[in-house]
Amino acid sequence: MTNLSINIGKLKLKNPLTVASGTFGYAEEFKDFMDLKKLGAIVTKTITLKPRKGNPSPRTCETPSGMLNSIGLENPGLKIFIKEKLPYLTKLGNPVIVSIASEGDSQEFVTLAKRLDKIKEIAAIELNISCPNITVTKSQSRKVTRLISQDANATYELVKSVRKITNKTLITKLSPNVTDIADIALAAEAAGSDAISLINTITGMSIDINKREPRIACVTGGLSGPAIRPVALRMVWQVYQKVKIPIIGMGGIIDTLSALEFFIAGATAVAIGTANFINPGVSIEIIEGIKKYLIKNKINNLNDLIGSLNV
Ligand SMILES: Cc1cc2nc3c(=O)[nH]c(=O)nc-3n(C[C@H](O)[C@H](O)[C@H](O)COP(=O)(O)O)c2cc1C
Repeated sequence: MTNLSINIGKLKLKNPLTVASGTFGYAEEFKDFMDLKKLGAIVTKTITLKPRKGNPSPRTCETPSGMLNSIGLENPGLKIFIKEKLPYLTKLGNPVIVSIASEGDSQEFVTLAKRLDKIKEIAAIELNISCPNITVTKSQSRKVTRLISQDANATYELVKSVRKITNKTLITKLSPNVTDIADIALAAEAAGSDAISLINTITGMSIDINKREPRIACVTGGLSGPAIRPVALRMVWQVYQKVKIPIIGMGGIIDTLSALEFFIAGATAVAIGTANFINPGVSIEIIEGIKKYLIKNKINNLNDLIGSLNV
């Protein structure tokens, strides 16, 4: 028997396939395309305390082997999420990982986590401290603020403050827009994070040369898709060598082959993001593909593949 089950903190996943926050809505949107119950876990779109309309349009555009997005964390807010989105998710029975973020005040993470901690159907909380698309509108000008995940001390303090108030599995999602990703991962681990999720999008831009305007209303956006895969893989590999906690790898995974690269680099689980927009059932195909690869290579347990890179 081929064993695809893996552990992330207290979570036991029957297989290592999950979805990347923000590319899968709240799962119900994908119910006609796949048997959702087959997913190892489901990660929600990031929620904030209050509802958010998100950024002005255009907020997505296609780029070579990828896309730029600047959605700006559009979401219905905590109350509506619990009332209208969570019941469908919990009914499915897969572990539900709720992604949370703040609109500026990091105390919002603690407030959100306290509320979610009381809901036993929620398996884990993912701290999105790496969203590149929140604009500060107070001064009318678009200011680029520093992300929590761009500072090891801020990452440590934030994770620590959430760790204090919940025993649920905590996953910290990191930004690739840093000099040394391992430093930030170590800070999250030291503060008590049970796992690291990486990578969020890479900041980029695209220009319409006829209008001489940016293709994204907020000028810059987050690059995702196969274009970022080599960067994501490199970061998974660098972090794997430094931390002991599991890594959920993502960034440009579109098929079994690309998913396998991440396990070999050191990921314990993988998440499918942009590829959901091209082939909504791709995650399920990848689960089958991984199983076939393991059988073909006489590997009984997926855990034996994790971090097996020969250098
Ligand atoms: C349209 C879109 C929306 C996203 N929204 C979120 C989000 O709400 N929270 C988050 O943590 N990441 C968000 N991401 C980032 C993805 O979860 C993922 O980290 C990134 O896209 C890299 O994976 P991929 O190349 O497979 O898409 C979003 C990505 C896209 C393309």
